[in-house]
Amino acid sequence: MPAVRAPDLAVSRAEFAAARGTLSAPVVLVPTMGALHSGHRTLLRRARELAQPAGAVVVSVFVNPLQFGPGEDLDRYPRTLDDDLAVCAGEGARLVFAPPVSEMYPGEQLVTVDPGPAGRVLEGEFRPGFFGGVLTVVLKLFSLVRPDAAVFGEKDAQQLALVRRMVTDFALGIDIESVPTARDDDGLAISSRNRYLSQAERAVALAVPRALAAGRDAAGRGAAEVLAAGWRVLGGSGLRVDYLALVDPATYRPVRNNYSGRALLAVAARAGGTRLIDNVAVDLGTERDAADD
Ligand code: PAF
Repeated sequence: MPAVRAPDLAVSRAEFAAARGTLSAPVVLVPTMGALHSGHRTLLRRARELAQPAGAVVVSVFVNPLQFGPGEDLDRYPRTLDDDLAVCAGEGARLVFAPPVSEMYPGEQLVTVDPGPAGRVLEGEFRPGFFGGVLTVVLKLFSLVRPDAAVFGEKDAQQLALVRRMVTDFALGIDIESVPTARDDDGLAISSRNRYLSQAERAVALAVPRALAAGRDAAGRGAAEVLAAGWRVLGGSGLRVDYLALVDPATYRPVRNNYSGRALLAVAARAGGTRLIDNVAVDLGTERDAADD
């Protein structure tokens, strides 16, 4: 077996800047909150491909307090740096930046990123302040790391859309790449928060991927049927549903029944105390006659 080279670890901005100076382009960033799992491994592998052969993969591990609301799981969010470093080593990352809160936010963060209209619906509505916190830390990571590219997961599709929009609107010149959602064999999207689920809650949670599959399978019958098929699975599943929505993937506006093209069916729901989000692409095909509505 080839020797696995441990990545360098930087915890302060100064250490990071010194290590960053030794890297050759392209530098590819994978921003994470740690608790790395097999879904993150797919991001790291994509990053490694993008960085080949001369470049380097940088992973940030930072549980960002700005994106947690009151009563959310900031304090109990899993922090597993030693395991994360082993994952990063196994996937060929060169540098891990794992700063404490005092390094990322040495003073009060008075200037933050406004995510705009697409950041105020769905996740933005149910988690006020969430996307402002996400985009603020991502922008800060971009300016500290100065990557050529960054890799995000499609499970957090609204986050991905907003990061892309921020990069465009602020002319950041960073290539944003995405990786499909990794799923366990039972279909549940892999997430660091799945570890909170009891066995019984996990069984209930499986209604999320089943509802998305039912919606996607109804694509040929139009947008209203996609939603109806999803709700038929969610109703009576035991989940507390925050939303099931069929949206334009770039603007996050709800699609009308005569919409044609690729839409996104997105869901957020709670199994017990654990909040799950997931989504699937739905191909609504060619334009339907408005009389079909
Ligand atoms: O997706 C995540 O893990 C986080 O929202 C991110 C992008 C690392 C920002 O904290």
